[in-house]
Amino acid sequence: MQLRLILTAFASLAIADYTPVRVPCPSTNLTRPAIGLNPDESAYIEQRHTKTRESLKTFLKTLESSSFDVDAFLNERSPKIAVAIAGGGVRASLFGAGVLAGLDGRVSQNGTGGLLQATDYISGLSGGSWLVGLLCLSDWIAADQLVGMSEKMKFPGMLDTFGMMLKILTDTMAKKKAGYQTSVVDQWGRLFHFVTAEAGLNYTDPTWSGIRNLSSFLDFSMPFPIITSTSLFPGTSFDVTHIDYINPMVEMTPFEFGSWDRNFRYFADTVFLGTEMEDAKPLNQCVRNYDNHGLFLGSSGGIFNADVIGGFEMKGLHAIFLSGVLEYLDLVNEGEFRVGLIQNPFYKMAHLVSNQTISRFMYLCDGGFEKQQNIPLLPFLQPEREIDLLFATDPSTDTMDGHGWPNGASLRHTKEKSDLEFGKGIYPEIPEEDEYLSRNLSMQPAFFGCDIASLKQYNNTQRYAPVIVNIPMGNLTYASNFSTGKFFYTHEETQGTYLNAYNMATRSNLTEDENWNVCLGCVSLLREFQRRSSEIPDQCQTCFNRYCFN
Ligand SMILES: *[C@@H]1O[C@H](CO)[C@@H](O)[C@H](O)[C@H]1NC(C)=O
Ligand SMILES: *[C@@H]1O[C@H](CO)[C@@H](O)[C@H](O)[C@H]1NC(C)=O
Ligand SMILES: *[C@@H]1O[C@H](CO)[C@@H](O)[C@H](O)[C@H]1NC(C)=O
Ligand SMILES: *[C@@H]1O[C@H](CO)[C@@H](O)[C@H](O)[C@H]1NC(C)=O
Ligand SMILES: *[C@@H]1O[C@H](CO)[C@@H](O)[C@H](O)[C@H]1NC(C)=O
Ligand SMILES: *[C@@H]1O[C@H](CO)[C@@H](O)[C@H](O)[C@H]1NC(C)=O
Ligand SMILES: *[C@@H]1O[C@H](CO)[C@@H](O)[C@H](O)[C@H]1NC(C)=O
Ligand SMILES: *[C@@H]1O[C@H](CO)[C@@H](O)[C@H](O)[C@H]1NC(C)=O
Ligand SMILES: *[C@@H]1O[C@H](CO)[C@@H](O)[C@H](O)[C@H]1NC(C)=O
Ligand SMILES: *[C@@H]1O[C@H](CO)[C@@H](O)[C@H](O)[C@H]1NC(C)=O
Repeated sequence: MQLRLILTAFASLAIADYTPVRVPCPSTNLTRPAIGLNPDESAYIEQRHTKTRESLKTFLKTLESSSFDVDAFLNERSPKIAVAIAGGGVRASLFGAGVLAGLDGRVSQNGTGGLLQATDYISGLSGGSWLVGLLCLSDWIAADQLVGMSEKMKFPGMLDTFGMMLKILTDTMAKKKAGYQTSVVDQWGRLFHFVTAEAGLNYTDPTWSGIRNLSSFLDFSMPFPIITSTSLFPGTSFDVTHIDYINPMVEMTPFEFGSWDRNFRYFADTVFLGTEMEDAKPLNQCVRNYDNHGLFLGSSGGIFNADVIGGFEMKGLHAIFLSGVLEYLDLVNEGEFRVGLIQNPFYKMAHLVSNQTISRFMYLCDGGFEKQQNIPLLPFLQPEREIDLLFATDPSTDTMDGHGWPNGASLRHTKEKSDLEFGKGIYPEIPEEDEYLSRNLSMQPAFFGCDIASLKQYNNTQRYAPVIVNIPMGNLTYASNFSTGKFFYTHEETQGTYLNAYNMATRSNLTEDENWNVCLGCVSLLREFQRRSSEIPDQCQTCFNRYCFN
């Protein structure tokens, strides 16, 4: 009670950089039907791709031979590569960081390093979205740097945390007072940036669209970032158990917010999200600064605040304080712990068939709630993005009732979604659990969808789905199968989980397979070989025999 009074007093301080502001509306449309890529995304990718092509040339130099001229091959056309960073709590953030570091030329000088520089896109979901979000918002620093900083984070911290909590509360009150919907996940998502601020970066409270202004975005050295979430249907708005493959998967990019799903297919400009719209027209002045990174990262990873409240690992005064604040926020907020509330830009839209148009708000929950699809692959199955190679990181703990190791479940679930969205036969077969485990696929990388004879092309295109390179969390050098609800990692646990992933991605610095870097290069070219019906270099054929599951 005492605490609440103090907090209420603090709430009268308005914090300008967080509360959305009213601005005149632009003359452009604020929404668009999902016909083709967003023009700004296209323009970004065109520029980014000129860089990734040069990086891929460098990466592929080991493939150069008298019969295979890398430069000439890539000058004709070069493949598009994407990386999907999965959810699964802090474990998943660390696992994703290890995989990215293993592929990053700034971190890993030998072997696989450099492929990240040849990557056009990156996606993140839940724990993966915190990683991708923090890397991007920190102007695309290398993942090992972020992990180094995370060791300095005293989450939930000491006095700094107290200040942070007060800021969270006052900001929420100010936003509410200014007439906007608030939600716990909004603040939840900000916690992660606060802790990096504590570890040495200046806290700026960035917006997601603000990524457009970062130097690594302006010079196209950042892969184009997408984080994902799932939209609940009106009528089941707060019931996260009521989710199926038909729930739209929502994408949040620095340019737009919306869904490619067949029953949706609309996007809204991220910058003006928060504007009250009716049938695609603004009702009042437009709104800016609503797309706070916390609202987006929190909406993608909404599962975890419930866990914290559940008191998983919270101990001592700080725990009481943190859960007290979150509980208090829940009183202030409308809604449910695990759902992010977003002003619906598609409200009453005549051209949209989805019943999501009947609600003034969109209700977003953890992307992994959609049938345990915790790997955000869907953005890169969209034929519009023309992805040829798709890295799936899988830090799931599927076996032993969620205490074990990956069994391919998420990859199989995304097949169901793909069948629904694109038709059967587009997405490669993924073996059932028994075969997945007996073939050792939980311990080693594998390629799915190499053989196009067993696949169909997307309707109305000549394209096949990308080849999927699966990097599972094997029990290779560290038993990193920690619970998704675990928040506090010791130095040993942090390094162990991170390095286990690094070793999975690099095949233990090529000691498990000295040709692994060559094989990654080869598989990046596979769709292009197939399109040109060109001869496959011997080295590549050896790789495909070894790693292609189908
Ligand atoms: C804006 O939307 C209207 C239909 O609502 C459409 O006719 C027009 O072409 C759009 N303008 C642009 C620039 O896309
Ligand atoms: C790269 O390889 C060299 C020679 O094998 C080795 O000395 C060096 O430690 C390796 N560097 C990394 C970062 O693994
Ligand atoms: C943070 O801001 C201070 C003061 O503006 C500046 O001196 C410092 O370099 C900044 N730190 C980082 C990591 O950007
Ligand atoms: C980028 O920075 C400029 C200059 O500060 C600002 O006017 C603009 O609104 C920013 N863009 C975004 C998307 O935040
Ligand atoms: C909206 O559509 C979904 C999917 O068909 C359905 O489950 C849900 O009940 C509908 N909601 C309302 C309010 O009609
Ligand atoms: C991790 O998996 C091992 C079996 O490989 C199991 O014995 C252990 O209990 C699991 N750890 C956790 C934290 O669930
Ligand atoms: C693709 O085309 C087939 C044949 O015309 C049609 O039956 C199917 O519904 C289409 N699938 C999608 C996802 O549009
Ligand atoms: C499974 O893969 C691991 C990691 O590469 C390897 O150490 C192990 O020998 C493999 N097991 C079998 C049965 O092939
Ligand atoms: C995982 O690794 C640890 C230590 O490396 C080992 O003790 C344990 O038996 C392994 N578990 C499985 C399921 O391989
Ligand atoms: C691979 O190299 C990294 C960085 O040099 C090192 O930390 C790691 O222990 C190496 N992995 C193995 C399995 O030796």
